[in-house]
Amino acid sequence: MGTEDIYGALKVEAQPLGFFETPIAYAQLKESEKLIYDLERSIHKHKASNAGLSRSNVGSWHSDTNMIEWGGEAANKLANTAISIAKRMSHFQDSSPDAFEWKVSMWANVTSLNGLNHIHAHPGNLWAAVFYINMGRDPSSKEDVGGSLYVEDPRFPMAAMHNTGFRMKDVNGKQQAYQVDLNLQEGNLVVFPAWMRHGVRIYRGAGERISVALNIDVVPKS
Ligand SMILES: [Fe+2]
Repeated sequence: MGTEDIYGALKVEAQPLGFFETPIAYAQLKESEKLIYDLERSIHKHKASNAGLSRSNVGSWHSDTNMIEWGGEAANKLANTAISIAKRMSHFQDSSPDAFEWKVSMWANVTSLNGLNHIHAHPGNLWAAVFYINMGRDPSSKEDVGGSLYVEDPRFPMAAMHNTGFRMKDVNGKQQAYQVDLNLQEGNLVVFPAWMRHGVRIYRGAGERISVALNIDVVPKS
């Protein structure tokens, strides 16, 4: 290559564009104290007589996925709320979201000291959701007890690039992370695409961290 710059200084006019967003609903269910109380009570009751399942959970209790049946009215209310959020974030090529029957499977997670969930996705569903009913810490304390939900960049840059330190800036020039920890409180309901990989960091608190997870899908109306 020659050392002489025969082109001079080029004026670059670049406009950053972003495509293929990954929407995550980050909802707070206000005045949900009674809902939380009733859910927690039915979870403890069910846990007392059920061994639970082994999925992505390590060192925690994962109930069966029929909570919609044993969770009473509170479970139904939560399911309908999550469905209405999911519907608002959905569209279909040839029909409206109301043309389908929306259904959920639902389970409870009770995590104690050193429990975590390995990174995973919920294939076969449209949306996944988590509702937080007990963060396993003293609300007045600033102590970090871990246990946070994190999501992974679905474009998998780490797996696809020779340079695994590579990241893209977003359209505003802000650096993007490979994984993002969500800062959540009791009463938060998070709805995200079911194919999005996520996990739960190790919980180091002395109490119990309790959440309810939902898979949301559609079937043709019969
Ligand atoms: Fe999950």
